[in-house]
Amino acid sequence: MKREIITTQDGSVTIYLPEMQENYHSKFGAIQEANHVFIQNGLALTQSRPISILEIGFGTGLNAFITYVESLKNSQQIDYTGVEAYPVTPEEVVQLNYPEQLGASNKQDIFNTMHSQDWEKRNALSTNFTLEKRKQFFQDIEDVNTYDLIYFDAFGYQFQPDLWSVEIFNKMFSALKKDGILVTYACRTVIKKAMIEAGFRTEKIPGPPGKREMLRGYKY
Ligand SMILES: C[S@@+](CC[C@H](N)C(=O)[O-])C[C@H]1O[C@@H](n2cnc3c(N)ncnc32)[C@H](O)[C@@H]1O
Repeated sequence: MKREIITTQDGSVTIYLPEMQENYHSKFGAIQEANHVFIQNGLALTQSRPISILEIGFGTGLNAFITYVESLKNSQQIDYTGVEAYPVTPEEVVQLNYPEQLGASNKQDIFNTMHSQDWEKRNALSTNFTLEKRKQFFQDIEDVNTYDLIYFDAFGYQFQPDLWSVEIFNKMFSALKKDGILVTYACRTVIKKAMIEAGFRTEKIPGPPGKREMLRGYKY
């Protein structure tokens, strides 16, 4: 599928899919959205204890990179796993301005390594952050009791309703440890219902600019 790099309103870029008319991130700000949904309403709840994170849709690596930067600030041990079936190309990676936009240009080499490192291999990017990228379809995820936090960042329900189904949320629920948390930018009632059916306790919380609400789920 054709992909174009476009700039969002906070100056950070994202990928646009003309055929689907869908962006990888909010047009109001890719970094702003990632910070709000995944960092402030996900990672921040883990209070700097050692955790493992599963990302549904590694894509541009923005969430992984922001999480890496946070792990340095908070000296938090994080083992990060990103699942992605359609990786970005090296030609796209050079156009992603996240280290610069985050004031972390001195970590550009880490961002590059995140993209160039081997698939299916865990790599230590610092003394407290490891990354494994898995080239895999979300539908094939079979992890059990493995993660403290899931960043659920699939394309919108209108484009991929199957990825917001009870079947997929069952997999997410299994993949989480007890007391694990799932955060996503989405807020449709049909998604909330699928999460509840899979066993999650859910809550709607304020979304990032341009989006009234988002969802968070807990495995108790
Ligand atoms: C909304 S984008 C999220 C991107 C990423 N979190 C980021 O910050 O760039 C959704 C991602 O899911 C990937 N994807 C879509 N369908 C998939 C599937 N069935 N299995 C695995 N990856 C998929 C896309 O290639 C894309 O990278």
